[in-house]
Amino acid sequence: MAPAAQELLQEVRPPRCSGAALIIVGAPGYIGRFVAEACLDSGRETFILVRPGNACPARAAAVDALRQKGAVVIEGCVGGKEGRRSVEASLRAHGVEVVISVMGGASILDQLGLIEAIRAAGTVKRFLPSEFGHDVDRARPVGAGLRFYEEKRRVRRAAEASGVPYTFICCNSIAGWPYYDSTHPSELPPPLDRFQIYGDGTVRAFFVAGSDIGKFTIKAAYDARSINKVVHFRPACNLLSTNEMASLWESKIGRTLPRVTLTEDDLIAMAAEDVIPESIVASLTHDIFINGCQTDFYIEGPRDIEISSLYPDIPFRTVEECFDDYLHVLDLSNDEAKEEEEKKNAPTVGRLAIPPTCA
Ligand SMILES: NC(=O)c1ccc[n+]([C@@H]2O[C@H](COP(=O)([O-])OP(=O)(O)OC[C@H]3O[C@@H](n4cnc5c(N)ncnc54)[C@H](OP(=O)(O)O)[C@@H]3O)[C@@H](O)[C@H]2O)c1
Repeated sequence: MAPAAQELLQEVRPPRCSGAALIIVGAPGYIGRFVAEACLDSGRETFILVRPGNACPARAAAVDALRQKGAVVIEGCVGGKEGRRSVEASLRAHGVEVVISVMGGASILDQLGLIEAIRAAGTVKRFLPSEFGHDVDRARPVGAGLRFYEEKRRVRRAAEASGVPYTFICCNSIAGWPYYDSTHPSELPPPLDRFQIYGDGTVRAFFVAGSDIGKFTIKAAYDARSINKVVHFRPACNLLSTNEMASLWESKIGRTLPRVTLTEDDLIAMAAEDVIPESIVASLTHDIFINGCQTDFYIEGPRDIEISSLYPDIPFRTVEECFDDYLHVLDLSNDEAKEEEEKKNAPTVGRLAIPPTCA
């Protein structure tokens, strides 16, 4: 059980290494874990703000794992006057200079309170709001995705108005099969039964390994060149269409799989359904693989910067390497019976009845 916030306020630990202290809000979450682990790997003093209580075993295990790695757990919740005050007090007590928010979809607007706490604390020299996707000022998703982006835009405007230096991380897609109906796609292996191909399957996206999202986010958070910038992750080696992803995975598993086409209309219909979070994911899938929102603009604005231009000598993990990881976990054998079993257990989709058009 994490110590109470009050105890932690009194117990200000010495930093693990030199460098400004950082707090991550939402560290036990999907993207948060990558960011927190990268921060700990970098040897920095890492505070993580977690909501009190162990909501589920997986979350409790995530908090424990981070604590064991050296994270200092602070219990608290961004939201409400009380929460704001306690976060503000924690920031001040620990002299926190960098705040990274990785709060999830339903809590995006809670960051408005976090920004108030950051302003009031007066210690913070950099704020990274929960972005970790597309450039929300440029992208034009439909339906549920648009409402989600409107919230992220509100947070952007509040961060800009706060006077606290900020960095917006646009890391594009996390490496893994881009399931249109899974909020956390990289937690599932690529399919073993059939591929969902969006439109004609030729529109490309940038796929970034979760560990690289974490690693480069931490670098950017401490880099003066990214102050008040939108930082885009565009690793040239990982620009792939769903057709190319499918062929790559087939080369790994040593067999071909049928393709099922989801059309633009299919994705728009799902985005309009307003089932959250599924409709948001369908909407963003449409924006990526039909509209081409990750590649339809040049990085040339005065506020835009590409991460590889900051760290040209640091390579990104390739999609192929990420696929190899899945392969190890899947432990595919030639045993026919096992293959059949995998087909049965492979993630299936189909909240909507979509007539398959197998190529
Ligand atoms: N690029 C991509 O492919 C991709 C994929 C997924 C998400 N994202 C983006 O990444 C960001 C994070 O999403 P996610 O899926 O990682 O979220 P998530 O798994 O839902 O995790 C969110 C975390 O924030 C914490 N949290 C929420 N509200 C809070 C509050 N009021 N006070 C304190 N903590 C709070 C949650 O706490 P509990 O543990 O208590 O619930 C949880 O640990 C979002 O901006 C999302 O759009 C990007």
